[in-house]
Amino acid sequence: MSTNSKVVAATSSTIARLSVQELSLDVRRRSLSEITPRFLQPVENGGVRLLILENISQEAVFAFRALGFHVDHYTTAMTEDELVEKIGSYHAIGIRSKTKITRRVIEAAPKLLVIGCFCIGTNQVDLPAAASAGIPVFNSPFSNSRSVAELVMAELIALSRQLFERAYELRTGIWNKQSKGCWEVRGKTLGIVGYGHIGSQLSVLAESFGLRVLFYDVINIMPLGSARQVATLTTLLAESDFVTLHVPELAETTNLISTQQLKEMKKGSYLINNARGRVVDIPALIHALASGHLAGAAIDVFPSEPGANGAPFDDQLNSWASALRDLPNVILTPHIGGSTEEAQRMIGDEVSQALARYLGYGTTLGAVNFPEVDLRAITAEQGTQLRICHVHKNQPGVLRQVNEALSPYNVEKQYSDSKGDIAYLMADIADVSRADVNKLQELIDATDANILTRFLV
Ligand SMILES: NC(=O)c1ccc[n+]([C@@H]2O[C@H](COP(=O)([O-])OP(=O)(O)OC[C@H]3O[C@@H](n4cnc5c(N)ncnc54)[C@H](O)[C@@H]3O)[C@@H](O)[C@H]2O)c1
Repeated sequence: MSTNSKVVAATSSTIARLSVQELSLDVRRRSLSEITPRFLQPVENGGVRLLILENISQEAVFAFRALGFHVDHYTTAMTEDELVEKIGSYHAIGIRSKTKITRRVIEAAPKLLVIGCFCIGTNQVDLPAAASAGIPVFNSPFSNSRSVAELVMAELIALSRQLFERAYELRTGIWNKQSKGCWEVRGKTLGIVGYGHIGSQLSVLAESFGLRVLFYDVINIMPLGSARQVATLTTLLAESDFVTLHVPELAETTNLISTQQLKEMKKGSYLINNARGRVVDIPALIHALASGHLAGAAIDVFPSEPGANGAPFDDQLNSWASALRDLPNVILTPHIGGSTEEAQRMIGDEVSQALARYLGYGTTLGAVNFPEVDLRAITAEQGTQLRICHVHKNQPGVLRQVNEALSPYNVEKQYSDSKGDIAYLMADIADVSRADVNKLQELIDATDANILTRFLV
């Protein structure tokens, strides 16, 4: 089915639902609450179908069912062919990182309205293909910030007490009690590079342990507690006993810490990287550790990481892997910074709420491939209102055409925004009859920029 016929199918089925009974539903709801936002009914009355894969949390499944959605829940991922065969009847899909949503899958999904990635990344989805089919993609980029910050706290102490070496020795039968080179973290200086979601949480935790906190960021940020922003990375490196990295992977952050920056760090200091593998020049780090300039390091992320549990972490993957593994007082972990039960639960909550908000209110706040648009909720006391969610091509003249169609009515509120080739308009209009809705549908369908239009009531 073409994109255009998808629009027709969606809007016709919606209009079929706009019975007098439904349009007056708010009158009955008024006695329940005068101010509760009304959950609007999306396409195909009561027939919204969700495909949930990869064992996404049961709480999310219950929440969708409580909203009246039909949910098919699978514990495993699906291949592209399986998806192409199955996805045609679904309005929403929830995946983690193993399911690939390719252009071919999107083309086989005439009813698909929204994609939820119940994880941090969205590389597994063809984002431009989804956007050009009018499908926003949501993820949960910051649900695991606290988990990463807590891991860094553990690493600070483990490094400064040489915990992993002592524990490893005793496992091999060697008793080696010593205090030389072992320190409390109290009174030491922690330098945080990147004071975003993780860096700022860590700042609060570290101060409560008695650390002095400095941070460096490319933007000016209000420090939390007694933390202090420094003007240059060099200042931070020169003053810190521990340096921890919390920047995104960008061209400017690739090898942010290399030979020169390692030299600028204090002798006997420690480096922690839970950000992204390419932020540290690892051969240069190996040299700084082997020479004794650094006292230790904790590394959770690597330029190349194995694709599955059990796969080797060896020199074939990263040419320096065995040299790094052989160094004492280096903690190596398999990208587990954000891997906790709490983070998984928060990801489930956040993404399922984003899907429900889009299906029920049209809100695209937090979408990764789409203009972010929201409108104040329609409440019970506001009488019958129709919400129009109009995804269209970002080209001149669209708003004139749409506003001409809306001009006979009272437009209560309206907002639109664009991102690249895609634009999205939301509008609430008052006192529409069913005949009006039919007419509006015809007029909006006839605009050449129309990609996908939903009417919610
Ligand atoms: N190890 C894990 O499992 C794990 C889990 C979650 C996040 N992460 C990674 O942690 C990193 C930080 O995540 P976040 O959620 O705090 O990100 P964020 O976007 O909230 O914060 C990043 C901060 O870095 C700053 N920044 C950007 N470029 C910089 C530069 N060149 N120098 C200094 N500061 C710079 C930004 O201004 C921002 O304040 C990301 O790379 C993310 O991918 C890793």
